[in-house]
Amino acid sequence: MGAARSWASTLTRSLTSEPNVERGNVVNVVLMGPPGAGKGTQAGTVASLVSVTHVASGDLLRELVKQDTDQAREVKAYMDRGELVPDELTLAIVMARLSEPDCENGFILDGFPRTVSQARALDEELAGTGRRIDRVINLVVPEDVLLGRLSGRWLCRDCHASYHAVFSPPTVAGVCDKCGGQLYQREDDTLETARRRLEVYERDTLPVLEYYRTTHDLVDVSGDGSVGEISEALREAIMTPPAEV
Ligand code: AP5
Repeated sequence: MGAARSWASTLTRSLTSEPNVERGNVVNVVLMGPPGAGKGTQAGTVASLVSVTHVASGDLLRELVKQDTDQAREVKAYMDRGELVPDELTLAIVMARLSEPDCENGFILDGFPRTVSQARALDEELAGTGRRIDRVINLVVPEDVLLGRLSGRWLCRDCHASYHAVFSPPTVAGVCDKCGGQLYQREDDTLETARRRLEVYERDTLPVLEYYRTTHDLVDVSGDGSVGEISEALREAIMTPPAEV
């Protein structure tokens, strides 16, 4: 890793002078955090601030389940129960997305990896294409806040923008401020399934944080504050050169 990593200094210069300027270097970020931490809310904004592509495994899987296939029905059943979709399928879908041209200049991964096996496979697959994860950021939010966020969430069917009935309601009920799309509530946002998702997170995804703490200089950022404050903290975390691990 190292202090000599040129991407960080170039990125810092670019962002200090003008947030969305073209830059010659690439930054690949993994954004971790429990269900409801604000990954989806933040990743799109922060991705445009640093001129990279937002890739959310949950959005990719929700696109897949719209298909009329046995595989789509099987995946939907996992998601509706709040369980993880099997590693092999999720990895294949995410890697296919990361091989698209808009990810060549960098990406922010949201919702992936969720198991140590996914994290190791991601590192191996990226190394095979001469890429790597440059920054791993963990959004930290207390559990009681998470459940309140999930049960009040509304999402846009078209652009996936995220709203909250109390904390960030749309201007017109049921209509996306950004694209005019229809808002809906996710089937896995019931209190019971949200609790299950948090249990699965603790069992399968907390070990991924340990994996990244030893391999990638994981940085914790508080996700409990205003959306704008958290975006700024994330931007700073991406701009800060990684420490030696
Ligand atoms: P996924 O879609 O990834 O869901 P998740 O990780 O459970 O995360 P969420 O989308 O629930 O939360 P978020 O952190 O994005 O929060 P958000 O920004 O929306 O995964 C869903 C399912 O897909 C999984 O259960 C699994 O089945 C499957 N899956 C996905 N990836 C997989 C993988 N890698 N392997 C296997 N299976 C996989 O915010 C939540 C709410 O809070 C919103 O209403 C928002 O407006 C509000 N909010 C956000 N920030 C703030 C703030 N600062 N203040 C007040 N309110 C806020």
